[in-house]
Amino acid sequence: MSESAEQRLQGRRILVAVSGGIAAYKTPDLVRRLRDEGAAVRVVMTQGAQAFITPLTLQAVSGHPVHHDLLDPAAEAAMGHIELAKWADLIVVAPASASTIARLAHGMADDLLTTLCLATAAPIYVAPAMNQQMWANPIVQENCARLTHYGFHVIPPASGSQACGDIGAGRMPEPLELREVVVAHFLNNTDQPLAQQHIVITAGPTREAIDPVRYLSNHSSGKMGFALAAAAQQLGAQVTLVAGPCQLATPAGVTRINVNSADDMLRAVMQHVPNASIFIGCAAVADYRPVQVASNKIKKDSDAMHIQLVKNPDILATVAALDKPPFTIGFAAETNDVLKYAQSKLERKGLNMIAANDVSDSSIGFNSDENAMVLIWRDSHAKMQQKQLPLASKTTIAEQILRHAAALIHS
Ligand code: PMT
Repeated sequence: MSESAEQRLQGRRILVAVSGGIAAYKTPDLVRRLRDEGAAVRVVMTQGAQAFITPLTLQAVSGHPVHHDLLDPAAEAAMGHIELAKWADLIVVAPASASTIARLAHGMADDLLTTLCLATAAPIYVAPAMNQQMWANPIVQENCARLTHYGFHVIPPASGSQACGDIGAGRMPEPLELREVVVAHFLNNTDQPLAQQHIVITAGPTREAIDPVRYLSNHSSGKMGFALAAAAQQLGAQVTLVAGPCQLATPAGVTRINVNSADDMLRAVMQHVPNASIFIGCAAVADYRPVQVASNKIKKDSDAMHIQLVKNPDILATVAALDKPPFTIGFAAETNDVLKYAQSKLERKGLNMIAANDVSDSSIGFNSDENAMVLIWRDSHAKMQQKQLPLASKTTIAEQILRHAAALIHS
């Protein structure tokens, strides 16, 4: 159970990398604490780590098989090391032995842990743990400085009595302290490129009533729009989320307005968008609705039924056509000619940016936990530009979209 009311690592994917050292006995607790905050956790161990703690223990607390062998075909078939390196939103090496630090600092990829760290784009936190004399050794210090130079985050070890009987610096911080470092990474209040911005975001599907019990809708789960809302809030924005029917918890600090139909969504958006500086249309708004909604349940009297449909208002285009429109971002869910159609939507609807989403691949797009897209916009010389966002969790994709939008707004 969570110790805090809100799970601060909800949707985050943390790879815990364990190397050999007596402090490895604390790692199962770290895994548990990260999961308490809603994180999905996978574990990789070096051979040295397995002398101190078994993979089975870490499998039990993480809920997933532990990865330890670079050349194990079965493990590679389940989730290959490159896939695992891409899966992680953050890697924490805890404990990090002097030997692992040295190998990381020199770009060696001679086991699974070091290979993953070289192959990932995720931030890497390293929690050194070793005897105080080793920690004071200038070679270790130089290796840590080298890691910092290359963008690793080295978490200073704590001081105190050590397993070997020595007293001094070199103890791995307690699991709760390490967890707070991870949380702080994602909630870094100084990193708020969207401070002062009010963002209105639409998410989820709409439902267009046929009669009191039936409706037209689509497969949108709301995950992408909710991830955008959570990320925007964390990047400092005031967020209003206009959500179609979806079973997702409201992200902390976000104002949510529930709607059903496209007409409801348009009304809610037009009420809040005058105060907004950014609008993101992520909802899969039903393009058509029945011309007439039967007031009673339609009976199955005939073998065929004809429902006449009429086009719904285009919420995104309506916002972009305002006299003083906010910075307007659309999505294009396409199954073919994705970039071509996305570009034409960017132009036709008068948007500042569009996220082209290939929804022909069921592992991304509708109702999946991951996504991949291409951002398209016109630069200050009216030249069409593109930026690829490769496969990642919707949480990561959302943050990338928002950081890119912030950069365009501030440029
Ligand atoms: O909700 P998930 O399961 O996480 O799935 C995410 C997603 C696939 C729904 C999302 O990533 C996505 O692609 N959203 C856009 C879906 C869509 O309706 O695309 P479209 O190409 O049909 O519409 C283009 C744009 O116009 C969209 O920004 C849409 O919100 C907007 N629109 C469309 C019709 C309409 N009547 N009003 C609108 O505002």
